[in-house]
Amino acid sequence: MAGKGGTGKTTLSALLIKYLVEKGLTPVLAVDADANENLNELIGLSVETSLGDIRERMKTETPPGMAKRDYMEMYINRAIIEASGFDLLVMGQPEGPGCYCMANTILAQVMEGLARSYRYLIVDNEAGMEHLSRLNLRKIHTLFVVSDPSIRGIVTAARIADLTKALKVEVRNKVLIVNRVPKDLPAALEDQIQEVIQKTDLLFGGCVPASDDIFQSELRQESLLKLPANTDVVQVTKRIFDKFL
Ligand SMILES: Nc1ncnc2c1ncn2[C@@H]1O[C@H](COP(=O)(O)OP(=O)(O)OP(=O)(O)O)[C@@H](O)[C@H]1O
Ligand SMILES: [Mg+2]
Repeated sequence: MAGKGGTGKTTLSALLIKYLVEKGLTPVLAVDADANENLNELIGLSVETSLGDIRERMKTETPPGMAKRDYMEMYINRAIIEASGFDLLVMGQPEGPGCYCMANTILAQVMEGLARSYRYLIVDNEAGMEHLSRLNLRKIHTLFVVSDPSIRGIVTAARIADLTKALKVEVRNKVLIVNRVPKDLPAALEDQIQEVIQKTDLLFGGCVPASDDIFQSELRQESLLKLPANTDVVQVTKRIFDKFL
């Protein structure tokens, strides 16, 4: 999940977890790759350790009679939060000053092994996609690029999709999702979407409505996983995910 700030990446990541778990497409590993982690809040989980904490630790701590890789792997396994049908791993803060080469190399190796034991890996990214290179993903099946319902937002989404070309990662589908769309999609916005779809390699996923259910759920601090199946936003996102996953 990529897109500029505040467009709904984390919300859609939570709805994607819900979709996969309810379809039985498990096990799922959800990775919160945002420095200001909050995916856990939207799905009702609390976080104790992030990979950033572990990496920080590895910089100074010497493993007691253990290979550094094994030691780090042990901590990474402890950082995995187990929920029903899916696990959550939080990347945490970016690195501070100092050398993290060793820790990052180990992290990438461990993540690669870890990813193999899940059917789906969902990554809730930051716009810059800083963490993507760290995760050592060589292939992305579907990159959902989330946009707000604005002309500039859609242009920015196209630019973000383009950024992946600079990363050493192969992306099979790049899919535009326009989120928080008012009931009637303005014609100018529809034209802009069409233009971007024609000019870039972005596919059109669909529009997700501005949802009062999400708004209320947020106010009550309830998990989005609990939204009823007949909720408009759940149904719309299900149709989008069905098309690509
Ligand atoms: N379809 C929607 N309807 C109503 N509210 C929404 C919808 N999608 C997202 N929101 C709300 O918009 C806000 C931002 O959403 P979210 O946190 O998912 O965005 P984000 O892209 O992950 O932001 P950030 O860049 O800060 O990580 C939240 O308060 C969320 O509840
Ligand atoms: Mg977010």
